[in-house]
Amino acid sequence: MSLLQTRFTNQLNVKYPLICGAMYPCSNPELVAAVSESGGLGIVQPISLVYVHGHDLRKGLQYIRSLTQKPFGMNIIVEKSSKLYQERMEHYLDIALEEGCRFFITALGNPKWVVNKVKTVNGIVYHDATNREWAQRGLDNGVDGIICVNNRAGGHAGTKGIEELYNELASLNVPLICAGGIGSEEDFVKALKLGYDGVQMGTRFIATHECFEKQNYKDAIVKANENDIVLTERVTGIPLSVIKTPYVEQIGTRVGPIARFLLQHRTTKHWMRLWYTYLAARKFRKSTLEGGSSKDYWQAGKSVAGIEQMEHVKDIVERFAKAAEK
Ligand SMILES: Cc1cc2nc3c(=O)[nH]c(=O)nc-3n(C[C@H](O)[C@H](O)[C@H](O)COP(=O)(O)O)c2cc1C
Repeated sequence: MSLLQTRFTNQLNVKYPLICGAMYPCSNPELVAAVSESGGLGIVQPISLVYVHGHDLRKGLQYIRSLTQKPFGMNIIVEKSSKLYQERMEHYLDIALEEGCRFFITALGNPKWVVNKVKTVNGIVYHDATNREWAQRGLDNGVDGIICVNNRAGGHAGTKGIEELYNELASLNVPLICAGGIGSEEDFVKALKLGYDGVQMGTRFIATHECFEKQNYKDAIVKANENDIVLTERVTGIPLSVIKTPYVEQIGTRVGPIARFLLQHRTTKHWMRLWYTYLAARKFRKSTLEGGSSKDYWQAGKSVAGIEQMEHVKDIVERFAKAAEK
């Protein structure tokens, strides 16, 4: 059987086992559509679509649909940070279902309420997990597959290696997607040969013509090697994978003792995370309006090691697929 035909491609009816993961703030609708149109699966980050790229959610989804007739998915971060956030996410999910979206990737909390809604229309839910315990919790709450977030991922990385995580989760007997560290077609083929049902890439798709990020960020991804990637707590309060720039080196990667105390306590941690999200959004808007600043954080994973040039999405997807067909 071809490496390109997996439980994931069969379940979702997509051509290639290749997902462009949700990225706040990098998931502009044109990028999501380009990945789906090329035969992979683009994932909408709803907060990013609305607050960064300025689309009303329903109109943004309709815009993506006008660019591609092929399936795309949506990310729902299910962590309960506030009642307002929860209500907004439920509303977003209802809109996505009404607009025909049938694939969701949940992250950070209990996916049960998402599963309950999505199953009424026979949709599919995959859940982010960094170990067996979290994967099992997702499955106990009805998800169909697992996004296996490893220690090379961009965004909030896991702690386990690509192979270690696969070995830990394989016997769960559900579709497993490798998230993190895939930058080249060799990485892609290796993950599929190991037994993964697909890969999810983020960083690779930032360095594309279809992503609307600033050119200096894209150039930094192309130039970086894996030793340039560090984890910082200073953006969201949880370790986040970024490129080590002079600014990151100057201000350090750890939060101070008061913030750490507040982040560790059940009642205050959600407020702290909300505060960090607000700061990040404000910083993003400011730097976008001003055309980029040396104080920007550039999120990227260790997959930078395999990224050698700016490319079109279609060329990446076709190159990867061709390598897997050999
Ligand atoms: C800039 C950036 C933003 C991200 N934002 C999110 C997000 O909002 N939600 C989410 O579930 N994952 C997020 N991720 C994780 C990606 O969806 C994906 O799993 C990850 O990038 C894979 O690792 P890679 O960057 O090495 O390809 C983000 C990753 C990056 C690089």
